[in-house]
Amino acid sequence: MDRKLALEIVRITEAGAIASSAWIGRGDKHGADEAATSAMRKMLDSVPIKGTVVIGEGEMDEAPMLYIGEQVGSGFGPAVDLAVDPLEGTESVANGSNHGMSVIAIAERGSLLHAPDMYMKKLAVGAALAGKLSLDDPIDLTLNKAARILNKPLAELTVMILNRSRHQDIIEVLRNHGVRIRLLEHGDVSGAMVTAIPEQGVDMYIGSGGAPEGVLAAAGLRCLGGELQGRLWVTSDEERRRCEWMGISNPDQLLCMEDMVGTGDVIFAATGITDSDLLRGVRVLPGERIESHSVMMRAKTGTIRYLQSVHMMPRHLKQALG
Ligand code: FBP
Repeated sequence: MDRKLALEIVRITEAGAIASSAWIGRGDKHGADEAATSAMRKMLDSVPIKGTVVIGEGEMDEAPMLYIGEQVGSGFGPAVDLAVDPLEGTESVANGSNHGMSVIAIAERGSLLHAPDMYMKKLAVGAALAGKLSLDDPIDLTLNKAARILNKPLAELTVMILNRSRHQDIIEVLRNHGVRIRLLEHGDVSGAMVTAIPEQGVDMYIGSGGAPEGVLAAAGLRCLGGELQGRLWVTSDEERRRCEWMGISNPDQLLCMEDMVGTGDVIFAATGITDSDLLRGVRVLPGERIESHSVMMRAKTGTIRYLQSVHMMPRHLKQALG
């Protein structure tokens, strides 16, 4: 994959984020998602790739655009897999709360896990803990190991987790051990990725969230030098059949980075819609301008670029804003 692709794909997430920003706080999840999806889809036509969507808006019969298996890109350039989430944190954008962003990852053909739309149990860490913990260990053992490796007391360990009733038992263990807890309302792609950004002060992300989001976070963490381990959380025969259909022969397997994002190059980009720990959200500036904040990264070189852009307000957004 050409390094220029990193700059090309950030235009896609910028388009998605800017389009859906008109829906911030309007309580319309569907409208926000549709705006991001169609803007990203349109922009993809100009990107020099022969792309196949492996993680997208759903299956062909349930999503008109960016569906699993859709061929995208200009048709010239490298054959790649795409994982896209035009609107990660749908609820956040609809409510005008934090952690909404547009995300994309591209990797060499055949290297991204075709993760079904179901939950995945996850453990994400930054470089200091990468390769040193196991999702299979009991939480208390993991906490003690992490504290020992990082050479700090449990009281200085910070764990991020989605604020969900299904996590009450984990939260109780965390509280019993006196670790610091950051409860996340939505958006565990950024929640998992911040573990690999030392200045964010988050040592570990634990808990279950969307499996597609797990693959996207793994792609981001590959570029950042962190790690995500996952295990699909199969709760019904229907979900097991779905896994089979997606080509996953052993859905109970512990998934490591290689299983989710391969070993080749990965390019990742995200643009904030609303503010998050990772990125600032879209802002409307005076003079019919829009500001966006993005991150783009490449695994092969480890380069991380933060991009602050000012765009002329697109016509469709002017109309949406009245
Ligand atoms: P959506 O944008 O698809 O709504 O996902 C938001 C999110 O918070 C993800 O980041 C996370 O993986 C998942 O939802 C968690 O699911 P749930 O809200 O069911 O706990």
